[in-house]
Amino acid sequence: MAILDMRILPDPILRKQAKKVAKVTPQIKKLVENMVDTMRDQHGVGLAANQVGSLQKVAVIETPDMEEPLVLINPEVLKTDGERQVEEGCLSVPGYRGLVNRSETVRVKAMGLDGKIYRLNADELLAQALEHEIDHLNGILYIDHLVSHESLYKITYEHDYEDEDHEHDEDDSEDSVESVTAEASASED
Ligand code: NI
Repeated sequence: MAILDMRILPDPILRKQAKKVAKVTPQIKKLVENMVDTMRDQHGVGLAANQVGSLQKVAVIETPDMEEPLVLINPEVLKTDGERQVEEGCLSVPGYRGLVNRSETVRVKAMGLDGKIYRLNADELLAQALEHEIDHLNGILYIDHLVSHESLYKITYEHDYEDEDHEHDEDDSEDSVESVTAEASASED
C-alpha cells in the first residue's frame, strides 16, 4: 500500500490532458492500487491520475454505497441528460467548495482492470463523480463549471470548528471530498 503525493492547484499537471492507456500492464495495476489507497486516505469519493502526478487516463471512484472501488481506464462520457446544480469540492483545490452545473444522468464507457470495456449509466453522486474525474483527465477542474463567479467559497475555520462540536452524525461528509455532495441543499459532503 502506498499513499501518493497529491498535486494541488496551481500545479500545471492538473491542466494537462492525460494519455490513453494502451494496455492494462502491471504498472497500471499498481497505479490503480496506489490511487485507491490515496483516495481512501484523503477521504475522497474519487481520484484521477493527474492528481497524483501521472498522465495516464486512469481514475477511481468510491461512493459510500459501493462495495468496491470503480476503476475507470480511458473513460469517456457517451451521453448526458438534464442539468442540476450541486455543491462540489476537490482534493486538488483544498479549502474551497463551489456550486457547479452538472448533468442529471451520464452514460460512460471505460475499460476495467480486466481489460474489458464496460458501459455504465449513473445519476446522483456517482454521475457527479464520473463527470468530475473524467474532467480531471482532460485538464478540467470543477471551478471551470461554477454557476457564477460568486459560487466558489472558502471553507471557514468556524465552520469546521462547529462541526467538531457536534457529534458526527451521519454526515461524515465534511471530510471534504473530491466531488461530493449529491445535492447542493443537502449538508453532506
Ligand atoms: Ni477533483
